[in-house]
Amino acid sequence: MIALKKASCIFLILFTSLLINSSSADSACAMCHQSASIHTHTRFDSSETDGGQPACTSCHGDSSAHLSNPMNESPDITFKSVGGASTEPQNNQCRNCHQTTSQHWDNSVHALEDLSCNSCHTIHGQKEASLGPEQQIKMCTACHQRVRSEVRLPSHHPIEQAGMSCTDCHNPHGSMSPGELTGINLNDTCLTCHESQRGPFLFDHPPASDDCMNCHTPHGSVHEPLLNARGPQLCQQCHVANFHPSDLNAGGGLPGRQPNASLLGKNCMSCHPAVHGSNHPSGARLTR
Ligand code: HEC
Ligand code: HEC
Ligand code: HEC
Ligand code: HEC
Ligand code: HEC
Ligand code: HEC
Ligand code: HEC
Ligand code: HEC
Ligand code: HEC
Ligand code: HEC
Repeated sequence: MIALKKASCIFLILFTSLLINSSSADSACAMCHQSASIHTHTRFDSSETDGGQPACTSCHGDSSAHLSNPMNESPDITFKSVGGASTEPQNNQCRNCHQTTSQHWDNSVHALEDLSCNSCHTIHGQKEASLGPEQQIKMCTACHQRVRSEVRLPSHHPIEQAGMSCTDCHNPHGSMSPGELTGINLNDTCLTCHESQRGPFLFDHPPASDDCMNCHTPHGSVHEPLLNARGPQLCQQCHVANFHPSDLNAGGGLPGRQPNASLLGKNCMSCHPAVHGSNHPSGARLTR
């Protein structure tokens, strides 16, 4: 990156001091840092900016001290996190331009954990620093290792299959919802894709309109489809010996008190399939 040998430095410093007077600081940076390609900022590589040179100073600051004494003075902003120093001044450089993207940044978990924009974004690099689905699974789960194993469980959202990305549900820059979710709340996030579970239903099942996570888990599960427990235990977390006993090996509490083929060792859902709510006139018990 630094295309400069200390030996030639003296000459270049003299040369640049002339150059600064005649041109902008940005062209001066490129004199010494020739290969500082900025792939995420393609526009800076175009002739729109000064003399076709990338606007180094828009991120690194004017850096006049560095320009006059590069060996001993650093640029205003180096984007290093030295000794756990706050990343705020670094991030503010980016946020000067990216105000909309970072409008919820201040209260985001990532900001509170002192992440910097370049914890995730590579500005100088050999290839396009895109953060599409494939890059995200690598980048996000490098820190979130438990999520990496969750998305590989038998029942999972197709995240590793590249159809979905973490940012379909989360905003890494912060959001108004807990868990940095993209929707106004958790259910709204799910229902943007799963329209058919959206109420209001004629007969609501309160846990569904309350929070999908009462029964589901978002990233992956050993129980199809993305359930956080197997039925009947799933249902028995809330329904213990109600109208009919939750002991499914007996028919005692059922109408007619007959052991039933669908009952024995079977699931609540074989009689109550409308677990998300029912629009059937006689679906009050979620049986249709
Ligand atoms: C005269 C040559 C020269 C010019 C002009 C110059 N630099 Fe440097 N820059 C250097 C050298 C040499 C180093 C390495 C210093 C060191 O190793 O301590 C350096 C280091 C850096 C670093 C890394 C600092 C660190 O602490 O890791 C950044 C970032 C940087 N320069 C940005 C810039 C920017 C932005 C400009 C234009 C405003 C600029 N440089 C202009 C020679 C130059
Ligand atoms: C969009 C903001 C941005 C712009 C524009 C920018 N930089 Fe940087 N620069 C960074 C960040 C962020 C880092 C930290 C490393 C990284 O994320 O790639 C960095 C790191 C550096 C380093 C240290 C690299 C290292 O490996 O230690 C040098 C030198 C540097 N920049 C020079 C320049 C020069 C020269 C220009 C203009 C051609 C420039 N930068 C333009 C954001 C920027
Ligand atoms: C001088 C204004 C400016 C600064 C400072 C700036 N950016 Fe940008 N950034 C832009 C512009 C303009 C684009 C082009 C995309 C667009 O149309 O919004 C862009 C694009 C991006 C993109 C999207 C790239 C893509 O492939 O779609 C990312 C990510 C980004 N910037 C991150 C950063 C980070 C991180 C920093 C701080 C290290 C930073 N920017 C500093 C103006 C800026
Ligand atoms: C935890 C990782 C992470 C951090 C930290 C992060 N970003 Fe991003 N950023 C992403 C991902 C992932 C995307 C791609 C989003 C997508 O494709 O939906 C993105 C997209 C962007 C874009 C493209 C436009 C947009 O809004 O989607 C910009 C600009 C951007 N980030 C700027 C920033 C700035 C500025 C900061 C620091 C305040 C920052 N990012 C911090 C992960 C991060
Ligand atoms: C289908 C939507 C969805 C996708 C895709 C998704 N998440 Fe989540 N994630 C959620 C929901 C909903 C929660 C909140 C769960 C809760 O409140 O119990 C959550 C919670 C989290 C949490 C905090 C709690 C925990 O489990 O540690 C992290 C970290 C997280 N997700 C990271 C990721 C990463 C990384 C990816 C991509 C590999 C990802 N998520 C993909 C919906 C999603
Ligand atoms: C550099 C490490 C790092 C990277 C990369 C990273 N995160 Fe995080 N993230 C954290 C830390 C630290 C926390 C707070 C502790 C925790 O919940 O695990 C956090 C928390 C979260 C939370 C929980 C928010 C809450 O309210 O509990 C979500 C969701 C999340 N990250 C999503 C993502 C996504 C999506 C990506 C990729 C775009 C990503 N993270 C990349 C470090 C990282
Ligand atoms: C960005 C769109 C999107 C969002 C948001 C989303 N999902 Fe999904 N969901 C999908 C896709 C795509 C599948 C896979 C469908 C398939 O394979 O047929 C899926 C599958 C599922 C399945 C398993 C279905 C089956 O037949 O195996 C459940 C359960 C599920 N999602 C629940 C949720 C919950 C709960 C949320 C909120 C935390 C959520 N989804 C958010 C797109 C989404
Ligand atoms: C009371 C527990 C419960 C709650 C709460 C719940 N679900 Fe389900 N969900 C299930 C069960 C059980 C199945 C499997 C149904 C079956 O196998 O017949 C399922 C299946 C699904 C499926 C797979 C497609 C289908 O209809 O079979 C999707 C998608 C889904 N749920 C989304 C959601 C969303 C979105 C929410 C929140 C609005 C939600 N669920 C809340 C129990 C629940
Ligand atoms: C998080 C707690 C919770 C879970 C888990 C749960 N339910 Fe419910 N269920 C409720 C509540 C609360 C009601 C409303 C009770 C009322 O109105 O008296 C309800 C109502 C019902 C009703 C209608 C009863 C009536 O009197 O109207 C049926 C049938 C039902 N649930 C079946 C199930 C099945 C099957 C499952 C498993 C897929 C399940 N529930 C999981 C909390 C839960
Ligand atoms: C063999 C079929 C069958 C199975 C299996 C079954 N139920 Fe039912 N359940 C019924 C019928 C029939 C009713 C009464 C329907 C009516 O009155 O319209 C009922 C009523 C209910 C009610 C309403 C009780 C009340 O007080 O009004 C709840 C709650 C309920 N079942 C939960 C469950 C749970 C939880 C499971 C699994 C542990 C389960 N059911 C398994 C057939 C079944």
